Amino acid sequence: MPTAILLDCDPGHDDAIALLLALASPELEVLGVTTVAGNQTLEKTTANAIRVLDFIGRDDVPVAAGADRPLTRDPFVAAYVHGETGLDGPDLPPPQRDPLGRHAADFLAEQIRERKGAVTPVPTGPLTNVALLLALHPDARPERIVLMGGAIAEGNVTPAAEFNIWCDPEAAARVFAGGIDVTMIGLDVTHKALFGERHAAKLEGRVGEMVRELLAFYGSFHREAYGWDGSPIHDAVAVAKVSHPQLVETKHRGVKIDTESELSRGRTLVDLWRRAPSSSQRSHHTGRSPSRMRPARRFRARRRRRPPWRSSAAGSTQCVRTRRSC
Ligand code: BDR
Ligand code: CA
Repeated sequence: MPTAILLDCDPGHDDAIALLLALASPELEVLGVTTVAGNQTLEKTTANAIRVLDFIGRDDVPVAAGADRPLTRDPFVAAYVHGETGLDGPDLPPPQRDPLGRHAADFLAEQIRERKGAVTPVPTGPLTNVALLLALHPDARPERIVLMGGAIAEGNVTPAAEFNIWCDPEAAARVFAGGIDVTMIGLDVTHKALFGERHAAKLEGRVGEMVRELLAFYGSFHREAYGWDGSPIHDAVAVAKVSHPQLVETKHRGVKIDTESELSRGRTLVDLWRRAPSSSQRSHHTGRSPSRMRPARRFRARRRRRPPWRSSAAGSTQCVRTRRSC
C-alpha cells in the first residue's frame, strides 16, 4: 500500500521537483499540497504549486494556502536563489485555479484526523504551517514528519543555519519539541546529492524538459555560490526518504533549534555525540548520507544579493524545553 503524504512546501525549484517526484512515485499517495511563504511570498508559492500541477494535468490534487509570514520574524524571500517568481526558468502559464478556501493548517488537520494519524507530512519549506497545525489542532497528530531543513554543522543562509529553519526558527522549535517522530533531512545530506548534467541527460518528455529548465536556472546559483556543477535537490531528498527509506541512513539524536542568539539564529543543534546531560531525552532521526555521495567542492562566498546575516527581527520566544529537547 502506498504511503500517504502531505507535501507542505514553498515552490521553489526543488519543491517543484519534490512535488513531481512524489506524484510520479507509486510508493506514495499525495493527499494534498499545502503552501507557505518561504522561497517567495505565499501568493507566489501557492501559484507555483498550482502551476506545476496544471502542467501535469493534476487538478485533482487539492492545494491549501497557509501562513504568509513566519510566527514572529520578519518575512524574507530567497529571490536570490529562486528568482522573482520563485520558479524562474520554465515558461509556465498562470495558475488555472484557486487554492481551497481554508487554511493549510486546517486542511492538514482534517487529513490527519481522517487517516487517524497514518499520514506523513513532508514539510519542505519554513515550518510555520506545521507549528500552527500543532498549536491549533492538538488532536490531529501525524505518526511522523519527514522534513527538509536544518543541518549538522553547516548553513546556507548564514554560516550557522539552513534556510527553512532560519526563516521561522520559533516554528521549527515547536515542531522539533512537539513530541512527534521527526526525520530531519538536512544540508549535510542534501549537499551530497547533487543533480548534475549526467542526471539531467536522462530526463525525458515535456515534464523532463521543464525540469531541465528548472535546473538550468537553479544550477546557475549553485555554480556561482558554491562552484558546483550541479544542484542539491534538497526537497526531493525528503520525498525520496519516504518512498525509499533505505536511501538515507538516519540516527536517533536530540535536536534543538537556536531561537535565542542572533548570530546562530535557526541553527539545528544536533546532539550527534550524545553530549546533552539529560539521558531521558527523546530524539529525532537525522539524515547521515545518501547512498550515492559526492564530496562537496570548495565554497565560494557569493558577494552580491546575499541575505542579511543580521536580521531586524524582534520578538523571538524562548526555546521550548521539554524532555525532547537536547
Ligand atoms: C531549502 O531552502 C529552500 O530554498 C529550498 O527550497 C529548500 O527547501 C534548502 O535550504
Ligand atoms: Ca523548499
